[in-house]
Amino acid sequence: MYVFEFGFNVAECMKKKQKKTADNIKKGEISLKTFPDGEFYARVMSNIESEDCIVVKSICNSDDMIKTILILDAIKRNKAKSINLVLPYLIYMRQDKIFLKGEALSAEVLLKILKGYANNIFLINSHLYKEAGKFKYNNIKLCNIDAFSEIAKYFMKLKNPKTIAPDKGAIEIAKQCANVLNCESNYLEKTRDLITNEVSIKDKDLRVENKDVLICDDIISSGGTMVEALKIIKKQRPATVNLACVHGVFCDKEIFLMLRTIADEVVTTNTIPNKVSKIDLSELIAEEIMNKLNF
Ligand code: R5P
Repeated sequence: MYVFEFGFNVAECMKKKQKKTADNIKKGEISLKTFPDGEFYARVMSNIESEDCIVVKSICNSDDMIKTILILDAIKRNKAKSINLVLPYLIYMRQDKIFLKGEALSAEVLLKILKGYANNIFLINSHLYKEAGKFKYNNIKLCNIDAFSEIAKYFMKLKNPKTIAPDKGAIEIAKQCANVLNCESNYLEKTRDLITNEVSIKDKDLRVENKDVLICDDIISSGGTMVEALKIIKKQRPATVNLACVHGVFCDKEIFLMLRTIADEVVTTNTIPNKVSKIDLSELIAEEIMNKLNF
């Protein structure tokens, strides 16, 4: 079995878990190059014929998408027995349905291309499906891995915690973290203008005075949601306010800086590398792959 991984340490974690047959798990080698005009080139260097292959790679932008397709094509052409694709972050998943007449269905477009190469696709806290486990999106079979237990574990250090969801869609996330931290949770009500993308959150008494608040969400993109949530929570005199999400996109650098200044801590997992991606999901990925694929 070969593991091709980019920014993760899954092969080592699998070896530790599977002590007896650890020699079967090898790190795959890929030669990835960029031509002077910006085009990419991929070549598999490992002998993968008839081998199960695992590819762990976040797709954070359009270049990553092309690189991943080339990597998958190289692996497929070289006659791998199976290709199991783990996409800790996958762009374009928020356009998962048609909101306004005439739109393209971005999530389906990307997943169809990737599914053309992979036997199994694993996503982490995908926007498409809130629960962990197998699901189907527009007839495409997928598996969703949940990373909130890892986020909650990181915040076990909070003395008097209370978790808050910045919108109704994240209620279950806040509850799940609250279960691990053995505390209460609450939520805010957010609306977003579909044309301007502007976020507004209703004022609400969250009973967070002297609490160590943990605002948790699946993704921070522009940071607009967290800024609005912070405004409401800060007025209610919490002891500390901490922000956490699985996918830290932080596409607005000024808001990212502002969040880090206002909040006591901002932390994300390493599905997208950034300055605060302190929670490594390699072990979780290793465990999930081994369980789900019976490796
Ligand atoms: C919304 O459904 C998501 O859970 C996030 O709350 C949202 O995508 C965050 O986006 P932004 O940081 O741009 O407000």
